[in-house]
Amino acid sequence: MTESYRVAILGATGAVGAELLELLEKRQFPVSELRLLASARSAGQSLNFKGDRVPVHAVDEHSFDGVDIVLASAGASTSRTWASQAVAAGAIVIDNSSAFRMDASVPLVVPEVNPEAVSAHQGIIANPNCTTILMTIAIYPLHQIQPIKRIVAATYQSASGAGARAMEEVKVQAQAILQGQPPKAEIFPYPLAFNLFPHNSKLNEQGYCEEEMKMINETRKIFNEPTLQVTATCVRVPVLRAHSEAINLEFDQPFSVSRAKEILSQAPGVKLVEDWQANYFPMPMDASGQDDVLVGRIRQDLSHPCGLELWLCGDQIRKGAALNAVQIAELLVQKNLLKSTVALSHSVS
Ligand code: A2P
Repeated sequence: MTESYRVAILGATGAVGAELLELLEKRQFPVSELRLLASARSAGQSLNFKGDRVPVHAVDEHSFDGVDIVLASAGASTSRTWASQAVAAGAIVIDNSSAFRMDASVPLVVPEVNPEAVSAHQGIIANPNCTTILMTIAIYPLHQIQPIKRIVAATYQSASGAGARAMEEVKVQAQAILQGQPPKAEIFPYPLAFNLFPHNSKLNEQGYCEEEMKMINETRKIFNEPTLQVTATCVRVPVLRAHSEAINLEFDQPFSVSRAKEILSQAPGVKLVEDWQANYFPMPMDASGQDDVLVGRIRQDLSHPCGLELWLCGDQIRKGAALNAVQIAELLVQKNLLKSTVALSHSVS
C-alpha cells in the first residue's frame, strides 16, 4: 500500500497551475485525489492529469474539505481569502503568492537552501518570489563556503512572471508591431514587445519597487541573515519565459573563480553553462522548461578584489514557482509532515 495525498491546485488554469499539474505527474507525487480550483470564469473546464480529464471548479468554502495539501498560485488576494480557510479545513498550504512570505510564522523555503525551515510551519509555507528563488539557488553554495557580504542584482524578467495572459499579450503586441499597427497594453502598463521597462510593481518612498524589495527581504529571510546587504534593479524584458539575472557578489576575502566554478558545477539545482571560446552562456531560451538554474560568466569583479560576477537564467514558471512548490510538498512527505490517506489506486474527482 502506498501513502498518498488529496491535493488541490488553486489557480489550476494559470501558467503556474499548468506546470504544477505536469510536475505532479512527472515526479510521481503520490496523489490520491486531485481537486482543480480557479475562478468562476473557469468553472466547467477540465484539464489533463495522468490520462484523465479533471474538472475545474470555482473555489468556494467547501473546496478544501478533506484536502491534505493545497498548491496555491492564484495571486496574493486570492491566497489571503482562501489560505486560512484551507488550513482550518486541515490542509497544508504551499503558497506561491507574496501574501505570507514575510510573515514570521510562515517558513519561506527553497528546498536546496533551507529545507529545515519547513518543519516550523503552522499550516502555510510560502514559495519565494521567482527572482529570489533563482538567485538564492545559485549563490547559496558560495555563501556556505565563504559568507557573502553584499549582493547587487539586476534582473531581466520575462512576461511569464505576470502570468499566461501576459505571455499572450506580448505575442499579440509583436504581431501588431510587425503589421505596422500600434501595440495594445492591457496586462502590462506599457507595450513590452520590442521594448523593456523597469518592473511595474508598486514603488516605495525610497524608489524601490516591490519586486526589488522582495529580492532584498526574502533573500535575508531564506539565508537567515537579517542584515545581509542586498540591492536590486528589476526590469521586465520582452522574453516569453525564463528570467535572467546579473549578480555581483562581494565577500570578506577574495573568492577564486575556479573554486566558485567547482562549487557551482556540483551544486543541487544548478547547471554550469560556459563556453568561453564560443561566447556561449545561459540564455532564457535554453533555460525554458528546464529544472536547473543555468549559471555562467563567472568572473572576477575587476572593480573589487573580493568581488565575483555571475550571470544566470532560470525558468520562472518551473523552478521559480511550480517546481519549488512541488519540491516543498515532497519535503513534507519525506519529513512525515503531511497527514496521508492510504489509497490503493489513483483516483481523481
Ligand atoms: P482563472 O483562469 O479562472 O482566471 P496566471 O498567473 O497565469 O494569470 O493564472 C492565475 C490563476 O489564478 C488562474 O488559474 C486564475 O483562474 C486564478 N485566479 C485568479 N483570480 C482568482 C480568484 N479570484 N479566485 C480563484 N482563482 C483565481
